Amino acid sequence: MDTQDCTPHPPAAPDAAPCDPSGHTARPRLNVVGAGRVGLALARLWQVAGGPLQVQALCNPGAARRAQAQALLGPAVAVEETLAALPPAEVWLLAVPDTRIAEVAGALAVQRAGTAPAQAWHCSGFLTAAELAPLQAQGWSVASVHPALSFTTPDRAMAQFAGTVCALEGDAPARALARQAFGALGGHCLELAAADKPLYHGAAVWASNFLPVLAATAQRLWEDSGVPPALAVALRDGFVRRAADNLLALGPAAALTGPAARGDTRVLQLQGQAMAARDASLGQAYAALSDLAGRLARDPAGWLDRPTGSGPATDGA
Ligand SMILES: NC(=O)c1ccc[n+]([C@@H]2O[C@H](COP(=O)([O-])OP(=O)(O)OC[C@H]3O[C@@H](n4cnc5c(N)ncnc54)[C@H](OP(=O)(O)O)[C@@H]3O)[C@@H](O)[C@H]2O)c1
Repeated sequence: MDTQDCTPHPPAAPDAAPCDPSGHTARPRLNVVGAGRVGLALARLWQVAGGPLQVQALCNPGAARRAQAQALLGPAVAVEETLAALPPAEVWLLAVPDTRIAEVAGALAVQRAGTAPAQAWHCSGFLTAAELAPLQAQGWSVASVHPALSFTTPDRAMAQFAGTVCALEGDAPARALARQAFGALGGHCLELAAADKPLYHGAAVWASNFLPVLAATAQRLWEDSGVPPALAVALRDGFVRRAADNLLALGPAAALTGPAARGDTRVLQLQGQAMAARDASLGQAYAALSDLAGRLARDPAGWLDRPTGSGPATDGA
């Protein structure tokens, strides 16, 4: 993994950035396909930043998101219903769900066949630039650029974006321009190999997506055990806050407590049975996470490089 700091560029004059791969000196025009959480936030961020891209047009099938986009971006940006209605552009951002990227790339390749090759980017953390193969086959430069941020609303994304790690992978010209564009937003770019994307994206899932599941599970089990619902929420929030505080202050291994960290094997076994009796997936998750927790506690440096069950179990209170 090659990290590169995308030092934020100062806002460029509207026609000052000669970074269009097709050779002309105007700022590359950007079309955004998909006005969802990511497409709309990035379009607005680039519009406000005045960086290397000129946000030109956007398309989205659903009327509600088109209306939101028009209200946010104003009349200078064309908001269309279909891909076919978008004007020519030097850069196309396919900000559609992962399952639709290849299909939209294919449709765009058909629509733009015979015109000057451009660049296409998508934002999936898991999928690679190969999803854009139909465009690459027509001479386009393609890349995946994953901003490692949970995009919720455009306002929140705009407030939170500076400092976001943006993982780049794909063709060199597309990576170079993407680095400029995301750098202009305060992004911190790093280069990834295509083969590393599954682990890279899996890490983000561990760091972000599973936390709400863990918290919701705890709340529900407290309720099941007779704790009043309001108190279950208070317990949940208190544990999450203190666990996050401890993790940030001490690091993962030192912040880890509980039966797996202590090596209380009898408790682990009986507790695991109770979880499995409540729900089969809960039992499996409890066993798997307890195994990982024990390995982390025993060997903070090499815990994930040694097989399950290796190393001495500690004992104690
Ligand atoms: N959300 C995040 O936190 C996050 C973070 C980093 C990367 N990403 C990546 O960013 C990409 C977009 O995710 P998202 O969260 O923004 O998804 P999203 O909120 O579901 O938005 C996707 C948008 O694409 C539109 N769309 C679907 N099919 C289309 C088509 N054929 N042509 C044009 N537009 C189409 C949808 O329109 P309708 O609403 O009308 O159906 C929707 O507005 C994904 O690759 C995702 O992996 C997401």
